Amino acid sequence: MSKNGTHKDWTYPSMVVCPVCAASHLPRKDNLANGVYACTCVNCGHFFKFRTVQNFKSSVSFTINGTQYTAGNEYNPATSLNDFMRLSRASMGTKGSCYEGGCGVCLVTVKLYDPVSQQNVEYAVNSCCLQLFACDGFEITTIEGLGNPRKGLHVIQERLVEHDGAQCGYCSPAQVMNMYGLLQKNPTVTVQQVEDEFDATICRCTGYRSILDAMKTFAVDAPQNLKGKVVDIEDLDAKLCKKTGKSCSGHCKTTGHSDHSCSNQIAKPVHIVGANGQWFKPTSLSELQAVLLQYANNNYRLVFGNTGFGLYQELGPWNFDILIDIRAVQELYTVKLGSTIVLGANLSLQNLIDIFEQKATDPSVPYASAFVQHLKITAQHGIRNMSSWAGNLMLKRAHLEFPSDIFVLLETVSAQLTIVDANGVQSTCSCAEFLNVDMKGKVIISASLPTYSGTGVQVRTYKTSSRLQASQAFINAGFNFNLDANNNFLVKSRPSIVLQGINSALTHAVQTEAFLVNKALGDPAVLQGALSTLSSELTPDTFPLWTDPSYRRSLAISLFYKFVLDVCQSKADARYASGGQGLVRTPMVGTQDYDTDQTKWPLTEPMKKITAPYLATGVVQYLDDLPLAPGELCASVVISTEGSATIDTVDASAALAVPGVVAFIQASDIPAGGVNNWRPYGIFGDFKEELLSTGTILYAGQPIGIVVADLQTTADTAAALVKVTYKNVQIPIVDIQTAIKQKSFFPNPPPPVVSGNAAAAIAASPKKISGSVGCGSQYQFHLEPQLTICTPTDVGGMKVKTTTQWIDGSLESVAQVLGLQQSDVTVEVERLGGAFGGKITQNFLVSGLCALAAYVVGRTVKMRVDIHTNMKMLGKRTPYYAEYQVGSDVTGKLTGVIITLYGDEGWGLTDVESSMFVQDWFDNAYYCPNWLFTPIPLKTNKPVNTGCRAPGSAPFIFVMESIMEHLAKSLQLDPLAVKQLNLYTSGQKDPAGMVLNYVTIGEIVTQLKADINYNQRIQAVNDFNKANRWKKRGLAVMPMRFAIMWSGSQFNSHVIIHHGDGSVSVAHGGIDVGQGINTKIIQVCAYELGIPMSKIRVKKSSSTINANSYTTGGSITTELCCIGVIESCRILKDRMAPVKAAMGGNPSWEDLVARCYQLMVNLTASYVTHQNDPFAAHYSSYSATCAEAELDVLTGQYQLRQLDMLYDCGDSMNPELDIGQVEGGFAMGLGYFLQEDLKYDPKTGEVLTAGTWDYKPPLPKDLPMNLNFKFLKKTPNPIGVLGSKAVGEPPLVTAAACLFAIKHAVEAARAETAQDTFFSLSAPATVDKVQALCLNNISSYTYGK
Ligand SMILES: Cc1cc2nc3c(=O)[nH]c(=O)nc-3n(C[C@H](O)[C@H](O)[C@H](O)COP(=O)(O)OP(=O)(O)OC[C@H]3O[C@@H](n4cnc5c(N)ncnc54)[C@H](O)[C@@H]3O)c2cc1C
Ligand code: FES
Ligand code: FES
Repeated sequence: MSKNGTHKDWTYPSMVVCPVCAASHLPRKDNLANGVYACTCVNCGHFFKFRTVQNFKSSVSFTINGTQYTAGNEYNPATSLNDFMRLSRASMGTKGSCYEGGCGVCLVTVKLYDPVSQQNVEYAVNSCCLQLFACDGFEITTIEGLGNPRKGLHVIQERLVEHDGAQCGYCSPAQVMNMYGLLQKNPTVTVQQVEDEFDATICRCTGYRSILDAMKTFAVDAPQNLKGKVVDIEDLDAKLCKKTGKSCSGHCKTTGHSDHSCSNQIAKPVHIVGANGQWFKPTSLSELQAVLLQYANNNYRLVFGNTGFGLYQELGPWNFDILIDIRAVQELYTVKLGSTIVLGANLSLQNLIDIFEQKATDPSVPYASAFVQHLKITAQHGIRNMSSWAGNLMLKRAHLEFPSDIFVLLETVSAQLTIVDANGVQSTCSCAEFLNVDMKGKVIISASLPTYSGTGVQVRTYKTSSRLQASQAFINAGFNFNLDANNNFLVKSRPSIVLQGINSALTHAVQTEAFLVNKALGDPAVLQGALSTLSSELTPDTFPLWTDPSYRRSLAISLFYKFVLDVCQSKADARYASGGQGLVRTPMVGTQDYDTDQTKWPLTEPMKKITAPYLATGVVQYLDDLPLAPGELCASVVISTEGSATIDTVDASAALAVPGVVAFIQASDIPAGGVNNWRPYGIFGDFKEELLSTGTILYAGQPIGIVVADLQTTADTAAALVKVTYKNVQIPIVDIQTAIKQKSFFPNPPPPVVSGNAAAAIAASPKKISGSVGCGSQYQFHLEPQLTICTPTDVGGMKVKTTTQWIDGSLESVAQVLGLQQSDVTVEVERLGGAFGGKITQNFLVSGLCALAAYVVGRTVKMRVDIHTNMKMLGKRTPYYAEYQVGSDVTGKLTGVIITLYGDEGWGLTDVESSMFVQDWFDNAYYCPNWLFTPIPLKTNKPVNTGCRAPGSAPFIFVMESIMEHLAKSLQLDPLAVKQLNLYTSGQKDPAGMVLNYVTIGEIVTQLKADINYNQRIQAVNDFNKANRWKKRGLAVMPMRFAIMWSGSQFNSHVIIHHGDGSVSVAHGGIDVGQGINTKIIQVCAYELGIPMSKIRVKKSSSTINANSYTTGGSITTELCCIGVIESCRILKDRMAPVKAAMGGNPSWEDLVARCYQLMVNLTASYVTHQNDPFAAHYSSYSATCAEAELDVLTGQYQLRQLDMLYDCGDSMNPELDIGQVEGGFAMGLGYFLQEDLKYDPKTGEVLTAGTWDYKPPLPKDLPMNLNFKFLKKTPNPIGVLGSKAVGEPPLVTAAACLFAIKHAVEAARAETAQDTFFSLSAPATVDKVQALCLNNISSYTYGK
């Protein structure tokens, strides 16, 4: 270590000491004017003044959309920009969801002075991470600053609308702001750049294609079909002027703040002292050292991007007394690009990308382009813009198990870090040495990276993770070799092999490094020696959250082999050489193909959501956006951390001591007459579930108490301080196999479905197979959190606004818990920011908890459930495991099918999925005369599992499809041929005995095969597989029948004609969850009444108007509400007909309405759709899907190349919306079948994957590169609503085709080593699972010649 220190005396005042009694005070902002404190001692009352020693500011100022804001110690230093904007209502269009940097719905752009380029720069950042006090001098632009429907949309907002990029709309403002930031930085953006940078914001609704298409219209190389108008930079900058409300180019200069400029502000030191801590912003290294000297022994933290807490909550700024913002420390921005490359600690990950991009062709920096590629898949766009590489290294230092990408990059090139302590003493060390450096009172200054002469240095870095973008690595690796290519790739000096993700201690594969010195890597024996040395020195740790140790070892070895194949390409056989390359992804392209019948317009007319411009501009209000009621409080739930135990003690004293906390509520606070049961009797009958535990703990995450406080953050922080101890702690059951082994079965399971005699048929069959397959759980991942606002009414009732999919259930839950009549409670819902089944029954619990809190404190209470609590406390998709026996003839025609299906129901057998057990779907699209389907629900220590888009259907159809694949494999036949042989035809009966009519599946499969040139595609896949040893492709076609169940569902609808102008209001019992229900309702209403759509409005749903309506779910709500509206319109038309006739001729609508009113014709009509079919299904929706995947056999990482779907939507009411539903459902299915995985702590039963760092729904690059969706044409559904078919859920299931395509690629990999026998691939087909199934063996890691 070298030492070279400087030190300058410089102090900030911290505590003010009274000159009379020596009592210490924190100076407060209101004590300060022009740097002078005037303070009254709280101890002795002495009034005294003093002057600060430096010219620092005690508040920060910044602009939001041109308006100047100043914030000082009236805010807690832990306040984020997002908190500030939403609490002050400066921007309600900017959303929040995860509050940990992982979902990206909170993006805004910031313009600030960049010391690197020495100019102002603007880019998108996550406002939930960015600290309020860090914004000094920033110009912040939010969605409101761009445009709105009244004044005009910004061109980005317009494009999002034009391309149907908003469904629920919760992510839309962030998608717009991401693009705005991108274009501010680079107005000549390319399609590739758009795809690369749209990794920041998760969209659970759309499937991304529509969003990306909208954004690609701005690309200079946009394909012809997307080419937008060339956009002038001034149009891009056309924000709304605060003063005029009209578009202005450039930024408004707010009068009276002439010194507001980014560079002015950033240069000023700040010191803010508040009741909860202090914020320092030194502007030079010496100032920073001075602060550190003073506070090194305090509970302090440096702040740059403040993103670290997204990974490690202990870094949350609320946990520190002293926060030191280092953004203004000029010395930390060094960039020297000489013979040594010096990079200051304050360079963001994006700065690094920009710098290495400049050096990409410089032979002395042979690692530059590898670094660029690697950094582009490190974190996500908003995080890369705002977070520093030094902050990343500090996370690694604190958590040695963290597979830091930055550590891998820097250590691979032996970067040297320069560190300075509070006394100015400098030292240098390698990144590996840094992990043991005591950093108390120290700062990383810079990293020095070498340049190289000669051509022998080969540097590559790799990262394999569960998701292609924005995901931490399973293993990340860096290789730095100096090779003599002319000498059989002689390793000229000790190479560097850096590996992360193996265990906490391992940084270098030291034995392999030593083994290779002076050896010829081109020698096959040396390669084998290196591989076995590497294998023997890797001892992977086991962590419940990590992938299997054997996979990680295999992956690390594979990455080394990949490196060798790449750098020693000339040694490798052509078939092997491609293994050295990663998967190549080209920008997503796609087609949508549907027809329309203009004679019926507006019915079948392709049109946008009525609310699209409001969604794209962030104008619509979700529940979290409503203004706070006077005295409104916030509530947070205390949940159990054990999965099977009894509560011993509950101590809330620490929580109650937190300033702002008002109450701690337990089960004993439930009022007399109320019950401690949130499951409505009217829905669940005798099944009860405690609102708050009275002692017995059935799962980790069970609610125990409620903390009520002034702010949500206070309530959440205090809830974590409630101490609960447990007794009788048992090991919980949290997986299916343990539950089966322990016979943890519920009594009285649903009866089996029997058709014919399957056992006898199988016994008599020439071909028999048996096997098993499973499918996992899924978190609904609605971006809008679960939220309820309850207000006690002045007459003893409760007003409830909540994010429910089922108003009646939430109403009943609140009434029952509080002992009120249901008529004492009102529940209202305007719209939801996504739901996906998670807000059906699970909202009843949240509503019940919030209502109890509001009742106890007697004030309005809002409960916003954070993502971690949500994922632990509430039910998710039910996981299943199936065992099957199947018989067929020699051609593959089914003779008998026996399926025993085990479902992990959680601790109770009651919720949405359990009712699915006895329904349809397990036959998928296949006829068989003999079925035995036996459901066995399992009891586990989990919350009762619940609905998740396509509950029951997705797993059951998947199981049957797996069976068909198994059968084809065992017969060595083309799977599609076997499937086609068994497809239903009209007139055949399903296992429940229902005769299927209007069956289109045969036609659909035939048409799809022709559309996609099936035989040629299969040939191309086979050719590719022959030509590549370590890359394999697979293609699979999946036919599907999806039974649509209307039965038992009841919805009411009211159509009200206003006599004054003939306009129409509609109120229906469904909920707008983003699916476009209200647009279709208006289309149908306009069609029936024969009036323009513009005359019709849909009102919010409420328990008063829409009482007794069923849940919005199961794909059917839109159809059934449309029936209600159609019937209501027909009632009205019948009433108006005599008047119309009497008026003779053809009166205008307005005249007719006015005349009807004069004649006292009732202009309000209602209808209750009450569907009771004799069989579960009302009709079936059919589709066929072809997926093609490419697999990197060495890593298990795969990429979807192409997806073609032909879908029978009948006469789609609105094909533009329906195709959006298909794309979005498909994308959610991709998450379910391929990548979303829940892991539980085997000891406590807690969900370990709670939060965005560990749970990964799809991002754009997880979607196929080529996506083609087509609706079956001219095939109206004779038993649907106006010829249509449902579209919400079936497309999700079609994504299983992708799993089978990957499976076929794995089969091709196994065929290379004669191991192509049948294997089962359970969902999700995660990267680690897929690689393990390839059965790689290092003896085959050769040059192939
Ligand atoms: C959603 C998300 C995704 C991510 N994905 C990845 C990923 O794929 N791969 C990966 O490797 N990482 C990933 N990260 C981690 C990310 O790179 C780090 O959070 C980030 O780089 C930290 O920088 P920061 O400026 O935000 O640090 P802060 O959060 O501000 O600080 C983090 C820590 O560093 C300390 N610190 C900061 N600067 C210095 C300095 N100069 N000297 C001494 N101490 C300092 C602080 O005191 C604090 O302890 C992800 C993070 C998030 C939130
Ligand atoms: S709320 Fe900011 S990233 Fe999720
Ligand atoms: S539209 Fe993107 S999350 Fe709903």
